[in-house]
Amino acid sequence: MADDFKAAAARRALELVRPGMLLGIGSGSTARHFIAGLRGRDVRCLASSRASADQARALGLEVLEELPAELDLAVDGADEIDPSLNLIKGRGGALFREKLVALAARRFVIVADDSKLVDQLGVGVLPVEVLPFLWPDTARRLERFGAWQLRGGPETPYVTDNGNFILDLSISGGVADPAGLGSALKSVTGVCEHGLFTGLAAAAIVAGPAGVRVLGSLDEPG
Ligand code: A5P
Repeated sequence: MADDFKAAAARRALELVRPGMLLGIGSGSTARHFIAGLRGRDVRCLASSRASADQARALGLEVLEELPAELDLAVDGADEIDPSLNLIKGRGGALFREKLVALAARRFVIVADDSKLVDQLGVGVLPVEVLPFLWPDTARRLERFGAWQLRGGPETPYVTDNGNFILDLSISGGVADPAGLGSALKSVTGVCEHGLFTGLAAAAIVAGPAGVRVLGSLDEPG
């Protein structure tokens, strides 16, 4: 069922795509639906993960490694979405490139099923990408924010597309101040990037049993 909702949200986002667009393509199961719908379209893509780049290339789409101009539109999934369209991303491991792609776009739109809506971020873990070198020391510096777990475990740590590790943080009491927590995490030595996306999404297309609805605005920026 959730997959049908993901597909419905992706279909609505595909209506935003125009010929000749430079597109940012996200990662995860919802973004995969969006990418699949791009088959045969006259667009060029910047991918937020190797998996998404591979999917797009397999469909015959042009995948760029560099940016010739600002992206017209970037479309990605999310793990949690709050009422102000702040997000937690990265449970699929692609948060660093996803944030770079979102920042490179004039318009960043989220596609999701309605299980992703939360009143306050931090219901689940907050992924933090860290440098493998001396990662246990970085983890200790992160303890003041909450309990951490090395994704994959110390024997077989998960390695991101950037060659880094991910620490999944449990923020006790939830994320009361997403922008403040984001800044604080970013200042910890050893942290490469974190999965808090604040002030980036213009809209979220959310699908559920009652249909598809849009939070925020899908209007082209002026
Ligand atoms: C990838 O790192 C994540 O940020 C995904 O965008 C997020 O996990 C959403 O994934 P699903 O669309 O598979 O739920």
